[in-house]
Amino acid sequence: MTPARPTLAPRLAQRVDARRQAGLLRQRQALQWLDATRAVVEGQSLTVFCSNDYLGLAREPALIEAIARSSDAVGVGSTASSLICGHHHEHAALEEELAAWTGRERALLFSTGYMANLGVIQALLQRGDLCVQDKLNHASLLDGAQLAGATLKRYPHADAAGAARQLASQPEAAALLVSDGVFSMDGDLAPLAQLAELGQAQRALLLIDDAHGLGVLGPHGAGCVAEAGLNQTQVPLLVGTLGKALGTAGAFVAGPAELIDGIAQFARTHIYTTAAPPPLAAATRAALRLARDDDARREHLGALIARFRHGAAQLGLPLLPSRTPIQPLLLGDAATATQAALALRQRGFLISAIRPPTVPMGQARLRITLSAAHSEAQVDQLLQALDDSLTPIAQRPWQT
Ligand SMILES: Cc1ncc(COP(=O)(O)O)c(C=O)c1O
Repeated sequence: MTPARPTLAPRLAQRVDARRQAGLLRQRQALQWLDATRAVVEGQSLTVFCSNDYLGLAREPALIEAIARSSDAVGVGSTASSLICGHHHEHAALEEELAAWTGRERALLFSTGYMANLGVIQALLQRGDLCVQDKLNHASLLDGAQLAGATLKRYPHADAAGAARQLASQPEAAALLVSDGVFSMDGDLAPLAQLAELGQAQRALLLIDDAHGLGVLGPHGAGCVAEAGLNQTQVPLLVGTLGKALGTAGAFVAGPAELIDGIAQFARTHIYTTAAPPPLAAATRAALRLARDDDARREHLGALIARFRHGAAQLGLPLLPSRTPIQPLLLGDAATATQAALALRQRGFLISAIRPPTVPMGQARLRITLSAAHSEAQVDQLLQALDDSLTPIAQRPWQT
């Protein structure tokens, strides 16, 4: 007899349909980049204001030369997981340079930031442990707590007192306190000094994911934790990603040798996967040198952020408070955000509408990101296009 269990394909189709009905269907588009800020999409040339290439390094000749030179010498693939024979001298050198840059004793590479967060949290926590996280943390951090089987407790965004309450609710449990450094959809910063103090007071290990601050904030771009002047005793675990300001791909966790070596033993997303291509590590080393030493890029980016915010304020645009390259423009409902993205596209700009469930219901937005590769003229053109595009859309619903 055929069992009565539900079948998965129709269930998935129903969920897709529900998403379509709600106007929340996600769609990819194939880009052909023309230069560091412009790409062709479906035959239309667009200026891109939604990439995470904050320093404009993804097409930098030094990185392209490094990847080409390395692949000429050693081929493309790493050929195995790092514990078998996939750990190349380029990876080892990159780990040392990342540790030195961020002022940590040791660093360990992962193939993506998502995998780093899953692996680090799963290596540390067990069933019955407590994982306290900011409500707006990146999905990979929340998923890491689930994978570990730990009890996940979330606190209101950037509310260190809320985090303290969650930690105090289970004083017996081993605890990890976790926050984005720069929040990926809002662009604001975690209360780092308060979280560091709380971690120490509550004996909870603190993990900061600085995916969006590395390369952008702090002395020599060493990130938001360095900017806050917090050392590895105060912030024992620092995750950084390589696919954003560094313009390549991958991620790392950095901290005291004992912790990092322990994580290397147990992080399943590090152990049971093919190591990243060595030429990619070579390109990232070239990126790191530029991100660390070329302050002019950061200065230009800072000037563009200031210019954009000033112009947006003059136009009365509802930007969230952010001093980072992530400049979200809050529009409210998903349909308005989608319409705004479409209107901008008609004016030659690619900016994605961010809708639930990536952001809370009623907080759909345009996530505008600036890059050191943009020019002042491009920022001015964007401001003009925002003004032209948003005016006809429901008479600027945020002002009514
Ligand atoms: C805060 C944060 N952490 C981790 C990640 C994941 O990094 P990756 O894209 O390298 O998987 C992202 C974004 O992708 C992020 O915004």
